[in-house]
Amino acid sequence: MSKKTILNIKECKNTKKLTMITAYDATSAKIAEKAGIDMILVGDSLGMTMQGNDDTNGVTLGDMIYHTKIVSKNAPNTFIVADMPFMSYEISVSQALESAAEIFRKTGARAVKLEGGETMLPQIKALTDAGIPVMGHLGLTPQRAAMLGGFKAQARTAKGAEKLLEEALMLEEAGCFAVVLEAVPYKIAEIITKKLSIPTISCGAGKYCDGQVLVFHDMLGLSDIAPRFVKKYADLGEQAVQAVQSYIREVEQGEFPALEHSFNISDEEWEKFSH
Ligand code: KIV
Ligand code: NA
Repeated sequence: MSKKTILNIKECKNTKKLTMITAYDATSAKIAEKAGIDMILVGDSLGMTMQGNDDTNGVTLGDMIYHTKIVSKNAPNTFIVADMPFMSYEISVSQALESAAEIFRKTGARAVKLEGGETMLPQIKALTDAGIPVMGHLGLTPQRAAMLGGFKAQARTAKGAEKLLEEALMLEEAGCFAVVLEAVPYKIAEIITKKLSIPTISCGAGKYCDGQVLVFHDMLGLSDIAPRFVKKYADLGEQAVQAVQSYIREVEQGEFPALEHSFNISDEEWEKFSH
């Protein structure tokens, strides 16, 4: 299977639902690729999943480059998008170009994702003009959670929905190849999906989007808390705790290691040694 391009991804609109999951390290990257996912997002959610913080604002460009390199190496046949972290693109267009170029050159990601609407249009235009594909991100934009008053669903008023639709259209016009809609009412996401000619990727935006994205740790039950919109497909966190508890118990009771987990020496050598 050859790696997808932004054209393959755009072509999926109206023909095939796009699947995307986050990955941050070799293990998650290999699992995602083996499962056959369309796209991997190296999300700045790594601030939570990998670094244990309460939000994504502490993630640096260096962190993103470090994790994205590892993911690219371990999922060589999957289309990889890397998040631009907080304050690596907001300051100016040239800052955005420099940050995205760093990611693009050093990591093997074939696109970047950045959060924001109208105010980020100059950045999106500049990046796409320079040859760096951009995935947009609207609705709940976690990097702005402090301004939004927390991790809250967005566009739940007619006015908010109107603004979201306008900004989604602006992002398409500015050159985004796809856009994530996070935590918005499914009916609003459906309208936006119909009006846009680029794919919409839902993160808690309902089934009418062109694709879905979930955080690896959330859907596998490895996060302490996951957003309400996440479906848990496994409870690996609980299973892992139980496995470690079994290990502790067996060591303490002398059951582990058994002979099969131990090395032996030939009778002949043992004889020579023990005399
Ligand atoms: O960082 C992330 O994981 C994301 C997705 C949840 C869309 O931005
Ligand atoms: Na993100």
